[in-house]
Amino acid sequence: MSKTMMTLDAGRIVSEAESEVAARYKLNDIFCQAWLSHAITAATRHGIPDIVGNKPLSADEIARAKNLDASAVYRVMRALAANGIFTEVEGRVFHHSEASRLLRSDHPNSWSGMAKMWNHPSCLQSWMHFADCLTDGRSGVEHAFGKTLYEHLGEDPAATQAFSDAMISNSQHVSKALAREFPFENYKAVIDLAGGVGTLIVAILAAQPHLRGAIYEIADLRDAATEYVQKAGLTDRAEIVVGTFIESVPENYDLYLVKNSLWNWGDDNCSKILRNVRTAIGSNIDGRFVIIEYVIDDENASWNTLYDLQILNLPGGRARTLNEYSGLLLDAGFEIERVQHVEDQTLVIAKPI
Ligand SMILES: C[S@@+](CC[C@H](N)C(=O)[O-])C[C@H]1O[C@@H](n2cnc3c(N)ncnc32)[C@H](O)[C@@H]1O
Repeated sequence: MSKTMMTLDAGRIVSEAESEVAARYKLNDIFCQAWLSHAITAATRHGIPDIVGNKPLSADEIARAKNLDASAVYRVMRALAANGIFTEVEGRVFHHSEASRLLRSDHPNSWSGMAKMWNHPSCLQSWMHFADCLTDGRSGVEHAFGKTLYEHLGEDPAATQAFSDAMISNSQHVSKALAREFPFENYKAVIDLAGGVGTLIVAILAAQPHLRGAIYEIADLRDAATEYVQKAGLTDRAEIVVGTFIESVPENYDLYLVKNSLWNWGDDNCSKILRNVRTAIGSNIDGRFVIIEYVIDDENASWNTLYDLQILNLPGGRARTLNEYSGLLLDAGFEIERVQHVEDQTLVIAKPI
């Protein structure tokens, strides 16, 4: 009697009867994915996506151009191509796939910053302490470095640069989508709290010429934000305001945004931030506050729950459900007016009560 066979995600073929074998492969293949992520980071760090340009290159040509070991380069490229990052167009000759093209530094929505950050030494050392998070709920960063993520980054300008490059690469594409899809025409002045170097504000102001805007950030990002706004030619409409939203939030804006930053904080600090936004909006009943965040949905999607683990491990915060945000907003004097989805972001639009 012939066996019914099934193909697993990583290309292994097993008999359907061998479910324990399949489970073992599943576990092992998860650990292999970590090595794949290191291969992506290594290729990106060596600038390989930038030199595989409009024509395919052999592993030997890549190695010569970058002064690397040809055999190691071939093995990395073969593994990447086998997993959809680059394609092997003929024996030992590689060209871009859509995913590898995104790793080019000159791609308009380049993902190279994220590829470098996820395996940055600061992250790797923190993951080495991830098990310690379970003992006391503190972040892997705190266990590894004895300080919070932003205290740690504040002492290491190169790490700050790597993290803010990553935020640009994570935010570029979705910021343009947000600028198109949110009704900014109803507002005059918008401030992005913890706005990084200004990826979102620049995208919004470029698409909405009637608006003025501001980035509210800690002092460590002042210079990078100033340069980013200057490069975009928006200094006449965008300002950089330095401060900490745990203590206060600037007044006189009618739209307050906070993107992918509330989840960096535990509930106590998150509540302080929300109350500070509410104070800043004051009696302006037309003012709105928009939380743009990775919100855990009712199905506990795999990617969302994994993002939550890196948020536990790095900044020591938490990803939240809509209900959890609703409770925190209510305590701070807001109610949810509506919810909108743009790409993988949930927009929680809150009005003062
Ligand atoms: C995960 S990044 C998100 C950046 C940006 N909003 C984005 O979506 O690309 C979190 C940001 O919070 C900023 N931040 C950290 N502590 C802060 C504080 N106390 N007040 C204001 N911003 C802060 C960091 O500098 C960093 O740019």
